[in-house]
Amino acid sequence: MADKAITINDMATFCKKKGFVFPNSEMYGGFSGFFDYGPLGVEVKNNIKQSWWKRFVKSREDVFGIDGSIISHPKVWKASGHVDCFSDKMIYCNKHKKSFRADQLIEDVVGKPADGLSKKQLLAEISIHSEKFKKAGYDLAQDISDFNLMFRTFVGSSQSEDAVAYLRPETAQLIFADFKAVCDTSRAKLPFGIAQIGKAFRNEISPRDFLFRTREFEQMEIEYFIHPEMKECSLLTNRDFSFNILTAKHQKQGKEHGQMSAAQMLSFGLADEWHVYWLLEQYKWFLDMGIAPLSLRLREHLKDELAHYSSACFDIEYKFPFGWKEIHGSANRGQFDLTQHKRYSKENLELFDEESKQKVIPRVIEPSQGVDRAFLAFLFDAYHDDSERGNVVLRLHPALAPIKVGVFPLVNKLREKSREIFDPLKEEFECFFDASGSIGRRYARADEQGIAYCVTVDFETLDDASVTVRDRDTTAQVRVKIGDIADTLSKLLSGKVAFSDAGKAV
Ligand code: ATP
Ligand code: GLY
Repeated sequence: MADKAITINDMATFCKKKGFVFPNSEMYGGFSGFFDYGPLGVEVKNNIKQSWWKRFVKSREDVFGIDGSIISHPKVWKASGHVDCFSDKMIYCNKHKKSFRADQLIEDVVGKPADGLSKKQLLAEISIHSEKFKKAGYDLAQDISDFNLMFRTFVGSSQSEDAVAYLRPETAQLIFADFKAVCDTSRAKLPFGIAQIGKAFRNEISPRDFLFRTREFEQMEIEYFIHPEMKECSLLTNRDFSFNILTAKHQKQGKEHGQMSAAQMLSFGLADEWHVYWLLEQYKWFLDMGIAPLSLRLREHLKDELAHYSSACFDIEYKFPFGWKEIHGSANRGQFDLTQHKRYSKENLELFDEESKQKVIPRVIEPSQGVDRAFLAFLFDAYHDDSERGNVVLRLHPALAPIKVGVFPLVNKLREKSREIFDPLKEEFECFFDASGSIGRRYARADEQGIAYCVTVDFETLDDASVTVRDRDTTAQVRVKIGDIADTLSKLLSGKVAFSDAGKAV
């Protein structure tokens, strides 16, 4: 489980110090809501994206990938509802001389969730707790305004209103805009999905909590298209799978989350079969990639929280040191988007379904995953301040580790021999060669970088053609023949062999 002693600020400091993530434009004082991934961070981030893409696109026959552009025809965003509805509620503070996101301010000052409250409800909360706001140094205006989160830009040589375009606030709409092209070219048959990984931009009023709420981030999204009358999901085979779940009822009664199987979610009517299937698939991906089960839960959206397009929505939340927070959103979008695009574009977006011999507008389940929030959750879960070792150990799943293997000569004299071992290994694995400082110091550095295995070349290597392999998580060591090292590391990294069986115990 994540080490709760570390705060989000500690994590930001650790990430900066080790080269995972840097504040953007730091030489000019930074730029709020923007971050740059460093040498280690970009590897972890790429590994997260590859793991997700492999699982949900490459290894499936029913999901097709696209890579759409960041700027699209503005009508895409009119049809989707983002021009009119994609806004946060903002309140001005006369003392701070700036605006705040009203629900977040209530959460901070009053300490209770306010997501999804109407303007009237937000103002009522502020009024009830007016003393608290005064004490916390706020002098708030009497009205709340809408603030559209889309970044605007101009396309072409004019800067008039006619030339306004938007940076995409989600990757999802590109999938709807390309729906017909994908259907025409891929011979996709219902049910099927279209997936995309890419950047999204939101002009968040109050970016905060490091990578959690930024203005530029990445999403991995699937729009899964289903015949509107198809209720049963044959892919949902693991109905005993148990979720931690905070239902709308739990929230209304002020209760903690409980446990519920997929089958129970269905029998209580919380979601339909396809929605439960996709929740399960995405939830399980987190568990399989190493997140501790107790740090993950589903949260059902309350009716007044639902986005303009959705009839049911669940978040997957991670237990961060700053509370349970959404890392994944899963919405039942129904036929909203395709119907809207059909209306605005006049394109026929109906599909002919061979089985039912009907022309239909499919309905949609949307798993929406933020890459940066996944990155943050994986890092928190992996972070262990090991007091015995006296250093941090980043216990990332080997598939996510930025570097898989470190190769170390025990002393400098063994550098040449070590390079002989390192050079072929680096063709197969992300490898790191380190000859500087004591071996203990090098192990500590490797632990902090999350390097899964360290290979040490010592004087015995010259006699027995073997090296020592060290396991990051336990510090256990085994002796492996040089000729077997690539095969052994490959089996260890894929989990095909237990460490204790990988070589001769040391
Ligand atoms: P929140 O309520 O926290 O603002 P949201 O409900 O607006 O999030 P969605 O619109 O459901 O988020 O976006 C889908 C996913 O995209 C989220 O689960 C999250 O992982 C990611 N995401 C959304 N906004 C941001 C952001 N500002 N910074 C980083 N990731 C984000
Ligand atoms: N596509 C869902 C979202 O980003 O909100």
